[in-house]
Amino acid sequence: MPDIYFERPCPVCGGRVRRTEGAPFCECVSCGKRFALKPPPKEPVSPPPTKKDKKASGFFSLLRRFFSAIGKECVILYGRFYRWVRKKNDRFPLPKPPSDDPKPLHTPEPPMDEGQRALYHARKKQLESRGGASVSQAPLTKGERLEDFISAHRIFSLTVSIVAVVLTLSLLTVGITFCVKEKQINKNDFRFYYGVEETGLVTERRAYDFVAFKTKNKDRKISHRINMTKIATLCNLTISGTQSTPKYAVRGGSSYVKFTSGSPIALINGTNYEMGCAAIYDESGDLWIDLYFARDILSGITVTVDLENNRIYVTRNTTPEGTVLNPVYESVSISAGNHSAYEGGGATSVQTATYKTDVSAYAADLHPSDSSYLILANKQNPLAEDHIPSDLVSLTVPTTKTIELRSSAARALEAMFFEMKADGITDLSVTSGYRSYNYQKWLFDYYVSEYQQKGYSYEEAVKLVESDTARPGYSEHQTGLCVDFWTSTMTSLSNEFENTEASQWLRENAWRFGFILRYPSDKIDTTGYTYESWHYRFVGVDAASEIRKNGWCFEEYVEKSASKGS
Ligand code: DAL
Ligand code: ZN
Repeated sequence: MPDIYFERPCPVCGGRVRRTEGAPFCECVSCGKRFALKPPPKEPVSPPPTKKDKKASGFFSLLRRFFSAIGKECVILYGRFYRWVRKKNDRFPLPKPPSDDPKPLHTPEPPMDEGQRALYHARKKQLESRGGASVSQAPLTKGERLEDFISAHRIFSLTVSIVAVVLTLSLLTVGITFCVKEKQINKNDFRFYYGVEETGLVTERRAYDFVAFKTKNKDRKISHRINMTKIATLCNLTISGTQSTPKYAVRGGSSYVKFTSGSPIALINGTNYEMGCAAIYDESGDLWIDLYFARDILSGITVTVDLENNRIYVTRNTTPEGTVLNPVYESVSISAGNHSAYEGGGATSVQTATYKTDVSAYAADLHPSDSSYLILANKQNPLAEDHIPSDLVSLTVPTTKTIELRSSAARALEAMFFEMKADGITDLSVTSGYRSYNYQKWLFDYYVSEYQQKGYSYEEAVKLVESDTARPGYSEHQTGLCVDFWTSTMTSLSNEFENTEASQWLRENAWRFGFILRYPSDKIDTTGYTYESWHYRFVGVDAASEIRKNGWCFEEYVEKSASKGS
């Protein structure tokens, strides 16, 4: 490499100054004086930010830059995708110059000085070597000729920015809504403060992390509950009863409150009250009851709900003799304050049945005056093929499929499920109700063919099936007055049902709702069918209570009634 000669002369002797390639100094060719090379000029110091600059760094400027960055990134991605598609698939070729136009597409060159022009051409060559026909067509890499691309795809760029803004706003809205919703159901929303009344002598005060929470039931109704187990501890109540029906009583006193897990009915000193939501256990075994029931009905404690600050204050009534170390609990009592009781009791015409729940609205259905509810269908009393009850309705109680019964039977069943729930039994559904003649025929033939497949003759198979399945026209299911029950613990419709909690409850209580166990184990000869613990028949409360009182089956009841009438 040749030496470089400087135009400025040597300040010592006026001779020529030269620099040899790679040397960190230059020297005078005449006197040999060496000079250090000057460092490159410093970057100009940026002026202090003006008011406008400061404003530009504000929130909106940030937002603008954010969206502009998103837009640019999308455009870059789009650019890459566009080139890629063009390369891979010629369905999207770049526009070609018309054949009669001899001039190729090109980018007009800006006015430049020599150096700039040289640089520009070098850059253009470099980009073209990567596959682009010109600078604006070269594959777009981050930051390179972006402005060219954006201006060539202005509408796209604008659309992308708008979509980005809309998407971000939607995400923000969803996020905010979600946070607000979460807040509504957050267990920790409520802080619970417990304290005895500040009488001047007792000032004990405790706090728990959460003692109330909200839940939504299947109708999305929000319920607020309070921890009854903690209240019991704080009020020094004794807990007895069973896990499903815990009873909280005042130590040394006679007042009590009893709840049933899964039921909204609470019993205060023998009187039923209906809470706004069911009492439920949490996973740690604490019982949660309706917050507003605790606030409005229970009088032994004072519950103040401060919704504004998400605070619940529970104050136990006390006597002035208590101290912090020896608090007095004896003054706690449980009563219903000034609120009227939830009216229990059955219809007046039912002397023998009592109910926890208010079933007065069902009285007419529990005691149907229509004698068709006493129809007998058995092996001796078939029904016509075209016998279809005219008042069939779909069941409202839990079922395994759509099931129909005659109107009053369906209503009585509804009342029975209501009461059963009040007793804490919820695992029960109906798996069969009204069956048409044709359905019973299909069912009977199906069971027969099953036996035949096992190697039995047709006659043998029919005999076996007949012991527990009626022939078409002979089934009580065709009356629309009987049901087969099912629980989640069962694997088949069998006497597995007998050992369930629901079965035991039905044995004792079904008669109060007009239902009887239709095929008892000790009446096989009379009914003609083997024992079916799951099959109940609606006959009305009067007949059911008489059947129960006398230990009859339905055939015996019909026979006695007929002889009484004659
Ligand atoms: N299982 C009863 C008897 C019926 O089939 O009707
Ligand atoms: Zn049945």
